[in-house]
Amino acid sequence: MSQLLLLHGPNLNLLGEREPGIYGDLSLAGIEKACQDKAEKLGHSLRCFQSNSEGALVDAVHAARHDCAGVIINAGAYTHTSVALHDAFRGTRLPFVEVHLSNVYAREAFRHHSYLSAIAIGVICGFGPQGYDFALEALARKIADEAKVEG
Ligand code: DQA
Repeated sequence: MSQLLLLHGPNLNLLGEREPGIYGDLSLAGIEKACQDKAEKLGHSLRCFQSNSEGALVDAVHAARHDCAGVIINAGAYTHTSVALHDAFRGTRLPFVEVHLSNVYAREAFRHHSYLSAIAIGVICGFGPQGYDFALEALARKIADEAKVEG
C-alpha cells in the first residue's frame, strides 16, 4: 500500500459554483471523496491538497517526495504558465498524471500548451470527474508495474 497525492491548483476550490457548464456541478470536496474511495479500492491511501498559490503547490510536490509514490494533479491555470511546477516534478522525479475536467484542446489556444504534459506519465482531459478515476487506475498500475521490475 502506498500513499498518493491529489493536487488541485487555482480556482478549483470553486468547483460546483464556477462555470458549471464547463466544469460540472460537483464540488472539490465531492471529487476528493470519490478519489479517496477509489484509491482505497485500489489499495492505496490518498492525501488531498488544493491551493491558489503556485509556491504552496511547489512545496506540496517537494513534501510528497518523502511519503508519496505518485501524484495526480489538476494544476488549473498554472498548467499553462508554471515553469516552477515543471521543475518541481523534474527535480523530485515523482511520477504523476495530469488531469483536466474540460477538454482543454477544444477551448482557447492559451490552454493548448502545458508545462507538465511532456514530463507526465500521461494526460487525461475532457472526461469530467471520471478523469480522476482513470488517472488513479493508471497511476496505481504504473506503481505496481515498477514494484515488479524492482522485484
Ligand atoms: C482546468 C483547465 C484549465 O485551463 C483551467 O485554467 C482550469 C481548469 C480543467 O480542469 O479543465 O482552472 O485545469
